[in-house]
Amino acid sequence: MTYDDFHSLCQHRRSIRYFDEKPVSKEEVLTLLKLARLAPSVENLQPWHFHVIYNPELRKKLTEASCYGNFVEGAGVFIVVTANRSLENKAKEIVWNPRELEYSCMAAMTNVILGATAMEIGSCWVSLHHGTAYEILKLPRHETVVGGLMLGHFKRGEEQNSNGHERNPLEEMYTFHE
Ligand SMILES: Cc1cc2nc3c(=O)[nH]c(=O)nc-3n(C[C@H](O)[C@H](O)[C@H](O)COP(=O)(O)O)c2cc1C
Repeated sequence: MTYDDFHSLCQHRRSIRYFDEKPVSKEEVLTLLKLARLAPSVENLQPWHFHVIYNPELRKKLTEASCYGNFVEGAGVFIVVTANRSLENKAKEIVWNPRELEYSCMAAMTNVILGATAMEIGSCWVSLHHGTAYEILKLPRHETVVGGLMLGHFKRGEEQNSNGHERNPLEEMYTFHE
């Protein structure tokens, strides 16, 4: 793969919030989770857990737990990613910033998002009220909610509704310390 291939994948990705009826299959989800598994993580602790939500009742409840937007129900599948905080005690080195467990989950979620783009599956991160999602899923105490991911097949026309990537100028985002 060349830089140009990867650049074009990143360029092609954007948040998709409306999907067609076709569900995302378990096989497709597992294909994406294989990518998540390859993500970097603090001390290789792999603290992520993916709750793959097909159950309509749970989806409805989780829509209410989302911070903005009411589109979760329309997704082909909804995934809630949690971090296993109990791994902090298992780390060989001191995990000096416990949030790094959550950052590791984000890295895995990014692999899923980019993989979905490559598979022509739309995706969007969904911010969740952590406590509410935690209660809805009846999670064990050591699991912390990191965020939600909607995945779905493109609704006709939605793939063309791009606003483009509005981004700050490149020069504003770096400082070289030489
Ligand atoms: C941590 C995080 C939380 C986000 N939360 C939401 C959300 O709750 N609902 C939503 O519609 N989009 C959410 N997004 C998507 C952003 O709105 C989107 O990435 C941003 O506007 C840039 O657009 P693009 O992804 O199409 O390039 C979130 C993205 C990130 C990384």
